[in-house]
Amino acid sequence: MLRRVCLRSSGQVRADVVASGRPRVSLGSSKPLVHEGPPLEQAAAGDAPLDPLELYAAAIDASDYVAALAPLIRRAASEIGDLLDVGAGGGQLGAALSTPQMRFTAIEPSPTMRARLLRLPNPPTVLACGWESAAIANASHDTVLAATMPAVMEHAGEFLKRSRSWARRQVVWVVPAHHGPRGLCFAGCLPSAWHGEDETPGLDTTLRNLRPADRPHAIQFFDWTFTGVVPDVAKLARFLAGRLGWAPHDARCAQLHAHLVAQARPRNGAVCLEIPRRSAVLVWRK
Ligand SMILES: C[S@@+](CC[C@H](N)C(=O)[O-])C[C@H]1O[C@@H](n2cnc3c(N)ncnc32)[C@H](O)[C@@H]1O
Repeated sequence: MLRRVCLRSSGQVRADVVASGRPRVSLGSSKPLVHEGPPLEQAAAGDAPLDPLELYAAAIDASDYVAALAPLIRRAASEIGDLLDVGAGGGQLGAALSTPQMRFTAIEPSPTMRARLLRLPNPPTVLACGWESAAIANASHDTVLAATMPAVMEHAGEFLKRSRSWARRQVVWVVPAHHGPRGLCFAGCLPSAWHGEDETPGLDTTLRNLRPADRPHAIQFFDWTFTGVVPDVAKLARFLAGRLGWAPHDARCAQLHAHLVAQARPRNGAVCLEIPRRSAVLVWRK
């Protein structure tokens, strides 16, 4: 399933530690859990490829996600201490929560996101694998964070067990809680008849996949705005049409472009697309 990229994963990979500022330990090769190659429709149009995770991470840079979320997590959880960030993405949230004196480890299967992580002012030790195969010692981190990544919904029971085993103090998950798509980046700008995604809030899926005894100790909600700064709306429209499986001559491609243009707002010489989001912070204390 290559089209639903932002929050989808598949397959197992071997671990590969690519620490920065810390010793490098190669434990084997890895492959990304998400599709990152150039979609065929873009190559046909002569576009340089858009990386869906980079689109997401760039939007997180421009959004109020971290500004809204980091203080909320600090209030809802106890002291962060040594931090393990699972599915860290660009690392913006982990960086806001970690402190240079404390250990900061990230599990991140995407090479593009790992490159971003290593550019942070205080980069984490990065494990190049998925959570399923990560070699992390039990009780090795005070806080285990997993924000807006697939396992918190799709594999909540098994992933909570693993998260708890790594944590000394607490597990903190951030889960989409809005009605609406949460797969394809920018699908929230499109009518549901086009994106065709399940619009059930991710939180419902998470709670459904947990035993009653595994319910979180605290749940807090926050509203934020997914803000994508878009240098080229036509290119984004072609990218989305390709992800939806539409052929370039499909009449809906022009409609999709017009639909995005109608929503675009000017921002610093580019335009941005804004999608209101609600997420939930779930905390388990030990
Ligand atoms: C939507 S991004 C969220 C990034 C970041 N946590 C945030 O809140 O901004 C989801 C991240 O989960 C990662 N991911 C996907 N499958 C994973 C897996 N099996 N194990 C660990 N991370 C995974 C992706 O590579 C991606 O960086």
